[in-house]
Amino acid sequence: MPLFPSRVPVTRPVLPDISAIAAGLEDVWARGWLTNNGPQLQAFRDDLCTLFETPHVDLLANGAVALEAVLDCMELEGEVIVPAFTFPATAHAVLRAGLKPVFADIEPTRLTVDPEAVEALCTDRTSAILAVHMFGMPCFVDALQKIADRRGIALIYDAAHMLGIRYQGRPISAYGDAAMFSLHATKVVHAVEGGALVYRDGALRPKLASFVNHGIGGASRRGTNAKMSELHALVGRIVLAELPRISARLEKLRAIYDDALSGISGVQRVYNMCDGLEGASGFYPVLFDKDVGSRDEIMAALAADNIDTRAYFDPPLNEDPRFGTEPVGTPVAKDISGRIMALPFFADLDHEDAGKIVMALKRAIET
Ligand SMILES: Cc1ncc(COP(=O)(O)O)c(C=O)c1O
Repeated sequence: MPLFPSRVPVTRPVLPDISAIAAGLEDVWARGWLTNNGPQLQAFRDDLCTLFETPHVDLLANGAVALEAVLDCMELEGEVIVPAFTFPATAHAVLRAGLKPVFADIEPTRLTVDPEAVEALCTDRTSAILAVHMFGMPCFVDALQKIADRRGIALIYDAAHMLGIRYQGRPISAYGDAAMFSLHATKVVHAVEGGALVYRDGALRPKLASFVNHGIGGASRRGTNAKMSELHALVGRIVLAELPRISARLEKLRAIYDDALSGISGVQRVYNMCDGLEGASGFYPVLFDKDVGSRDEIMAALAADNIDTRAYFDPPLNEDPRFGTEPVGTPVAKDISGRIMALPFFADLDHEDAGKIVMALKRAIET
């Protein structure tokens, strides 16, 4: 008999009160304005400008295309250094912008790109570093900025996991030349699908406006349809208003997991609340010690108890032939990818269920 009678998902989107969505929809219907920079989108962008403390925010159809847009509109050429340990979208965006990804290893405590590895890979072909803040943990922003300044190259952050996070007293978007936030349904704040782009140079705005709207106006090198609709913006605004509640729930849940897991040997917490970090992460990954056994077998045992987990992120992207890069040694990314597993983690996860999940994990490891 599985421990849970029905499947516990690894994540579940925040579903705001349907009556708030219905009221917003009536407003959208009354105006008859469904997309192309409508009033819902403008209001959502204003809310995000307040959160990110800057007027330079744009909303796009998803996070992946937002990364592609910024790489394209910054008119980069040649190579972009990206971490080997990340979601495939990071490297696909580089390819889709006509650039070549060069994979760097990560640092083992934050799982973000190792500045020393970045430095070693920089050449005169490098035009940007695309670093990824991981699972709510910030990159080594000061070291990366120094490299970017010394080399005169761009520093862009994939901050897909970071909405609501502040670091060293500033919104995480304040670091680098630009930061992309995913608003996918699995994120702490979502718009069903969506992406937000925060950038330092206001001159990017007309280029981005052209890029997302088929290149019309001619300000961008390329164009596609990457506009956010009024319906998505509506959901995004309503979910964003719940951020304090969502964050409080996630922090409580993290404390429950932390406490329960402290009694299990061989399982390490991944999330490090490094100095100066504020805000809730939407992920709860763990790392298995090598002597604990196979991560994949533990995942299978949990699946038999109806507990959904994920091997986020495995394999390292430099092992994916689609990116066509020469094999570069990334031993830390390789090691972490083989031992990491994300537990179910979402604002509305029942606290008692979290305790049962840890019990099942303990049993899976013991057997
Ligand atoms: C690190 C990272 N980058 C990019 C993305 C892509 O974002 P989206 O799903 O909004 O396109 C994700 C999605 O989860 C991600 O985890």
